[in-house]
Amino acid sequence: MKILGIETSCDETAISILEYDAKKRRSRLLANFVYSQIAVHQPFGGVVPNLAKREHQKNLVPILEMVFKKAGLLRKQAKNTRSEAQLEKIKDILIKEEDLAQNLINFLKKYQKPKIDLIAITKGPGLAPALWPGVNSARALSYFWNIPLIGINHLEGHILANWLPQKEKEWTKIKISNNIFPAIALVISGGHTQLVLMKKIGQYRVIGETRDDAAGECFDKTARLLELGYPGGPAIAAEAAKFKILNLKSQIALPRPMLHSNNYDFSFAGLKTAVLYLIEKLKKEKINWKNLRPAIAYEIQNSINEVLIFKTLKAAKNFRAKSIILGGGVSANQSLKDLLTSEVKIKLPNIKLIIPKTEYTGDNSAMIAFTALFKKERDNWQTLEADPNLRLEK
Ligand code: KG4
Ligand code: ZN
Repeated sequence: MKILGIETSCDETAISILEYDAKKRRSRLLANFVYSQIAVHQPFGGVVPNLAKREHQKNLVPILEMVFKKAGLLRKQAKNTRSEAQLEKIKDILIKEEDLAQNLINFLKKYQKPKIDLIAITKGPGLAPALWPGVNSARALSYFWNIPLIGINHLEGHILANWLPQKEKEWTKIKISNNIFPAIALVISGGHTQLVLMKKIGQYRVIGETRDDAAGECFDKTARLLELGYPGGPAIAAEAAKFKILNLKSQIALPRPMLHSNNYDFSFAGLKTAVLYLIEKLKKEKINWKNLRPAIAYEIQNSINEVLIFKTLKAAKNFRAKSIILGGGVSANQSLKDLLTSEVKIKLPNIKLIIPKTEYTGDNSAMIAFTALFKKERDNWQTLEADPNLRLEK
């Protein structure tokens, strides 16, 4: 079975084709492409939703064509066998994405129906203007090719990204043992920070989440205050590494928000404010704050990581979890991974720690196609909608 996966929930336009071999329970990626819009959003210091929409509209069809070609699934159409009414319907489905509709019509006229068995699309959560071009393209393809469709939760994708095939084109056995459940999943991205109790695949309970900014958002916003650019996570990590190398003792102290609160929730907005006040104070005292940038970045990273790890371990202990699963863009952070690994080894040595490959921590469509493997239900192209606030719980 072959699955087309499409992801447009934020600032990545990503399309993949995943093949699944049910008999041998293995999967492989026939093609996998992620186009990052970072350069487009960089001047604004963060993702601009309408720019993301424009970029998705512009790039979805060229990427679709490239990915299908790479997978060897495109055959030119001998003659136009489609009725005008069918093509008109595409315009209807993509009524709010006019340019995209025309690109898609040209593509559909040019090629025969490819041998795909399912279309998997990120339904949410995410930015509404970014989600819709993806959802409507998937609906149009499902209608036109008469291929089943399924809307996927982006956060579930981040969790299951841990089991994606390791190398493009190569088969990887899907080994998800029941011995890892119950699991505590820590999903940390630019838009979300959640602790999820997972009884099995598809059964989730959000036991804690951020009350304001997400962990990634905090990295991004504090990086902006430090004039380090976007995205903030890698920038703060790089700056913090400079401080670590010097092996100095930091004079900078920032809060650990909600570290000892009696729940599994997070709050990172206060940390950002503390950084803002710190920079203002240093400026007032005529201290060259830019010289202290590595120390501040180091402290920001420690603060975020310590809170994330403390609460994750607390949840894993209290819910008697057999594993801790990481997912989302922030799980690319090496300090976080190192600290979590050593803390688990010392405090919860019987717990298995599952960390995604770095290339699958950020947004991608392989995880969306892969998650579809675990879903029996299907959506209707006529009624499927993007849901910017989609929850993991049913
Ligand atoms: O999962 P993701 O690609 O997109 C969303 O669904 O939001 O996560 C993006 C977030 C950004 O906030 C980015 O700064 C953060 O992940 N990030 C990192 C690192 N790499 C990306 N945060 C900390 N350390 C990193 N190395
Ligand atoms: Zn994400």
